[in-house]
Amino acid sequence: MREYLSMAKKIAERILREKDVLVVSHIDADGITSAGIASKALENANIKHEIMFLKQLDTGSLKIIRDKNPSLVWFTDLGSGMAHEMHGLSSVITDHHSPSNMILNVPKEMRKTLTEFFDELNKNEILQLNPHFYGKDGGVDISGAGLTYLVAREMGQKNVYLSQYAIVGAIGDMQDYSFLKLTGTNRYILKEAEEFGLINTLVDARFFGRETRPIHKMLEYASDPIIPGITGDESGALNFLNSLNISLKEGEKWRRWVDLTKEEKRKILSQIAINLLKMGYGSTLVSRLIGEVYILPNEMEGSYLRDAKEFATLLNACGRYGNANVGLEIVRGDRGENLKKAVNLLLRHRKVLVDGIDYLRDIGIIKLDDIQYFNAGSHIPDTVVGTIAAMALSSEIADANLPIIGFVENENGMIKVSGRASRNLVNSGLDLSKLISKAAVSVGGYGGGHNIAAGASIPRGTEEKFLEIMIQQLRELKKTGKN
Ligand code: C5P
Ligand code: C5P
Ligand code: ZN
Repeated sequence: MREYLSMAKKIAERILREKDVLVVSHIDADGITSAGIASKALENANIKHEIMFLKQLDTGSLKIIRDKNPSLVWFTDLGSGMAHEMHGLSSVITDHHSPSNMILNVPKEMRKTLTEFFDELNKNEILQLNPHFYGKDGGVDISGAGLTYLVAREMGQKNVYLSQYAIVGAIGDMQDYSFLKLTGTNRYILKEAEEFGLINTLVDARFFGRETRPIHKMLEYASDPIIPGITGDESGALNFLNSLNISLKEGEKWRRWVDLTKEEKRKILSQIAINLLKMGYGSTLVSRLIGEVYILPNEMEGSYLRDAKEFATLLNACGRYGNANVGLEIVRGDRGENLKKAVNLLLRHRKVLVDGIDYLRDIGIIKLDDIQYFNAGSHIPDTVVGTIAAMALSSEIADANLPIIGFVENENGMIKVSGRASRNLVNSGLDLSKLISKAAVSVGGYGGGHNIAAGASIPRGTEEKFLEIMIQQLRELKKTGKN
């Protein structure tokens, strides 16, 4: 964390000199929390600002931004991948995506020097706070919201309360996925949020919907890990709970995970673990049942905002269907109209995810030696194909040992590519952001992201060529162990 603070301070000072700022952010949960944090910090400093949400930052959107002639642009949760295109645009960036290839092609030890050089080249027009410049993994160490928070914190002491949204952003980006808890710089922010009574950390079942869903529904939708015989099977879930004598209702009300006694929770978890082991699933899978969960104690019990994972999903449900502003207002504090709207969007999001996975089950994932892929045409929206690819990778419909690529159609006539890989593959040297970005550029597109999750836009009809280049690179990687 310490290494980030001097740049965070520099950026904060730069922002505080402005009267008017354009905040540009990503549409997912991390992007929305980033924008909310930036917006509140600017408001608290009496700086006028406008917020613009983007699916991704490309040359077209950069042109729109330039045309607005802003005195300062604050890019949050995006920007680093396009910094080389920002000459002459006065901007600050708080982003955790892999920076422009120009910087990535330089050895790790030299990256910081090069950034400084790059800043100087731009006469300090572009200041970037990005974990990659400090040799950190941007997919795990800190999120866009976390970086934006570090700047907000330097802009005013009062902004410490925004740390809770930095945690929601990190969880939205699944930064707890690999180690079953937040680590690295996220942990410092977590401690700060805990100290101020903004987050409570518990070790509990990692099921989605602990606060809001009836237990049998929560189990039916369990996806990390998938529970055979229960996931996707409502009566399987009901029979399982009945066999353990767990009552489903208390009076008229469905019981949720948070309503269960410790003993009941223990009974359920140990029986699931036994079943998984009996079916031949390894202990790694079983160990994913339990991990850290993050609670926002100031939110109402049983609300969609109480558990960081549910909060993040609610925001995703807004941003991924063109309503990032609804999510933004929730982060900014609205618990009225916008929250109601978001809950409706969440119902739709759930249906899209369930339908998407069902569709993949129907068409099947095509498995090659080095990679697996699917082409969903217009059956899955481009904004959720990544989420669905990630869900598929942790289910029985895909092979966990291969990277997965999903193709769908974009409304602008391009093909949206989403890639996901397992932690094991990343640990053995795979960096999807490099591979995907290179393959995309080779076919006339562009892409980026993180080692574990990356995406691209490519011209229609180049999918096969794109896969070929991915395979070539993966084979090269197998041979040399480097990419
Ligand atoms: O653009 P951004 O950095 O916000 O998005 C990161 C993406 O990586 C998220 O969509 C997140 O769900 C995904 N991810 C994943 N699996 C992981 C870690 C991150 O799918 N293990
Ligand atoms: O869209 P998806 O969830 O698959 O994106 C995975 C990661 O790749 C995200 O961090 C996203 O910001 C990044 N990405 C990118 N350029 C694109 C598409 C996605 O950097 N054209
Ligand atoms: Zn992010």
